[in-house]
Amino acid sequence: MATIEKCLFPAAGYGTRFLPVTKSMPKEMLPLVDKPLIQYGVEEAMAAGIHGMAIVTGRGKRALEDHFDINYELEHQIAGTGKEELLAEIRNIIETCTFSYTRQVEMKGLGHAILTGETLIGEHPFAVILADDYCVAEGDGVLTQMVKLYERYQCSIVAIEEVPREETFKYGVIDGDMEEDRIWRVKSMVEKPDPADAPSNLAIIGRYILTPDIFELIRTTPPGKNGEMQITDAIMRQAEQGRVIGYQFKGRRFDCGSVKGFMEATNYNYENFYPNKD
Ligand code: UTP
Repeated sequence: MATIEKCLFPAAGYGTRFLPVTKSMPKEMLPLVDKPLIQYGVEEAMAAGIHGMAIVTGRGKRALEDHFDINYELEHQIAGTGKEELLAEIRNIIETCTFSYTRQVEMKGLGHAILTGETLIGEHPFAVILADDYCVAEGDGVLTQMVKLYERYQCSIVAIEEVPREETFKYGVIDGDMEEDRIWRVKSMVEKPDPADAPSNLAIIGRYILTPDIFELIRTTPPGKNGEMQITDAIMRQAEQGRVIGYQFKGRRFDCGSVKGFMEATNYNYENFYPNKD
């Protein structure tokens, strides 16, 4: 049985909603208090048993690579002080994971970003995390829940959640049949539908497990809205063959690609994970 060994992080987008800070800094390096979004994503993947991190970057994103590397000068500077502990988590990540990078030269959409990652993934099923969707869960993390489901279904899995009807225009939305609690067999999907046209209010969020045939499907799917290569259009073709599960995950998602969601996540983490608030 194929296991999930790699997680792809499309991180090449411009992050225009956070300008000016994203002018020279990747959105994925924005911190929730003191840890960047991308690190939360990597930790979620590690918790799911994945140790191969494949990151699709773009211009101005070098800070991502530096973050997952040792900074000898800094380590030397804080050696023997209480501050060493602050780097323990990231050091553990660097020691136990491998990181590979490729660049998306033109930002032609999420589908195109995932296709750019093919060279890092190869012919294996893989996970995808959009680090700007920050997820918290009691017990198993969201990706762990999905990996368990993959072991059972061996097909593509998209994380879904109910959103208010009037917000369907922000998401890919599924149409499907409920197989059991939280598990939907996806029949069809629509990218960013008007609320009146949306087939449901079940929106796809930034966690996927994809089978490798997705690359060929992306390559052969004509560009969608705004000339972008949408991942929804390619997954839709797997759905037509009954090969996509929609999973209503247990947990909470913050849309950290928006200023409001980012502030909510920051407050949530500060309240819940920082007992000594000094
Ligand atoms: P978004 O549309 O939310 O990100 O893409 P964005 O374009 O960076 O943000 P705004 O709208 O301008 O503020 C979702 C995810 O897909 C990645 C982004 O980095 C983000 O993680 N992405 C998107 C790419 O890697 N390449 C693309 O061409 C588009």
